[in-house]
Amino acid sequence: MKIKSFLIVLFSTTLFSFAAEGESVEVKAAPDVVKESQGTVLITGANRGLGLELSRQFAADGYHVIGTARSPEKAIELKEVADEVLALDVTSDESIKGLSAALKGQPIDILVHNAGYFGPTQGLGSERDKSSTLKALTRSEVLDCFAVNAAGPIFVTQGLIPNLKKSKQAKIVVISSRSGIINQTRSAGAYGYRISKTAVNRAVKIMSVDKALGNSIVVAVAPGHNKTDMGGDRAKLTPEVSMQKVKSLIEGLTQKQAGRFWYYNGEELPW
Ligand SMILES: NC(=O)c1ccc[n+]([C@@H]2O[C@H](COP(=O)([O-])OP(=O)(O)OC[C@H]3O[C@@H](n4cnc5c(N)ncnc54)[C@H](OP(=O)(O)O)[C@@H]3O)[C@@H](O)[C@H]2O)c1
Repeated sequence: MKIKSFLIVLFSTTLFSFAAEGESVEVKAAPDVVKESQGTVLITGANRGLGLELSRQFAADGYHVIGTARSPEKAIELKEVADEVLALDVTSDESIKGLSAALKGQPIDILVHNAGYFGPTQGLGSERDKSSTLKALTRSEVLDCFAVNAAGPIFVTQGLIPNLKKSKQAKIVVISSRSGIINQTRSAGAYGYRISKTAVNRAVKIMSVDKALGNSIVVAVAPGHNKTDMGGDRAKLTPEVSMQKVKSLIEGLTQKQAGRFWYYNGEELPW
């Protein structure tokens, strides 16, 4: 159990024992010891990279963090950080059903679709992505990228509609990429990854006006080129810096920003 959860349990036990004795006692929480949850955040693909860092930052700020991983038993770092670690493969309907069942009745205030797949070579703009060229591209690379990056956020959102509607105003954030911007195409390659990010941007725009999601705010966010397994070592940004800005951006979102595409630093991006 994380220290934060332990203190909350300890505090509520103390409160209960006073009440049980029939005393009318007003107990004020010491703000530096017991912090009320800022809301519940669910982040997919949270066991490493940007998802792990974003989970860490939301948890440090008093949010109730649910991190998902394909193999929760191996998500050692995430378990240190998140309040709950749940299994989720975003390409599997069974897995999404299991997640919905595990979260039945629980509101979700912020849903971050972070899980992503670049292709068999991994690595943006490096020597490593050479096999994503037209000559080497395979059908399975394109379809796998679509299954994770484009269909994943749509079906995970679908599975969590009841939880999102339990929030006063849920925020649904798809971690997309500038590589999905159609008019910014200077080099070839990474077909599967890039078209799947373009597709998910389209889904964001559609979900942002979908009445099934109530008054939820739906946006796409590009995190910038980061040093992670996917981003590689040549990336200029660190997940700490990028996710700090993404967290602030998410916290400040209003309905006016819905259905739009944001860069991690708060600038608006074209589709
Ligand atoms: N890093 C960058 O420079 C960069 C730039 C632009 C956009 N992005 C986007 O930012 C997001 C996070 O990227 P990252 O750099 O942190 O990538 P990463 O280090 O490669 O991590 C990817 C995460 O996605 C999970 N994942 C992959 N397939 C999944 C599936 N079918 N179901 C559930 N989870 C799955 C992975 O889980 P496993 O550990 O089980 O594989 C891992 O947790 C992605 O959407 C990516 O496209 C990253």
